[in-house]
Amino acid sequence: MKTLQRTLAIIKPDAVHKRASGQIVSLILENGFNIIGVKMLHLTQQQAEGFYAVHAGKPFFGSLTTFMSSGPCVVLALEKEENAIAAWRKLMGATNPANAEEGTIRKRFAEGIERNAVHGSDADDTARWELSYFFAGYELAK
Ligand code: RTP
Ligand code: MG
Repeated sequence: MKTLQRTLAIIKPDAVHKRASGQIVSLILENGFNIIGVKMLHLTQQQAEGFYAVHAGKPFFGSLTTFMSSGPCVVLALEKEENAIAAWRKLMGATNPANAEEGTIRKRFAEGIERNAVHGSDADDTARWELSYFFAGYELAK
């Protein structure tokens, strides 16, 4: 039996601002992910700092959290058979769009290493933590 895996995706403020959310959601669905939760949020700086706490102390932390709270973003809970976390990161492409492969979301929509259109969890434990940061259990479709 195949097991379903969940991951947390964010369409970041740069991509929402340029009206790319619809195209990104289409790519998510075309690539076989189920969307089991979605909300549009304009994060406060404090909420962005909480989400990216793992990067506190890095030189880009202030700039990243200012960017992430600069406008609305779309937060999505995704589900896919077996490999949602890796499959979503593959579809996103490399953090720096200069290194992103053709056909990836960041290659297509990212403006730079920070304004890079999308976020994805990087492991099982971080996916669980990130999903619980934005969604209560009852908010996710069965
Ligand atoms: P994300 O967490 O957003 O999915 O991105 P990622 O795993 O590919 O990259 P990560 O290393 O976790 O960095 C988180 C976000 O911080 C911004 N960043 N800026 N100026 C810089 O050198 C720099 N490095 C990272 C990006 O927005 C990156 O996605
Ligand atoms: Mg990351």
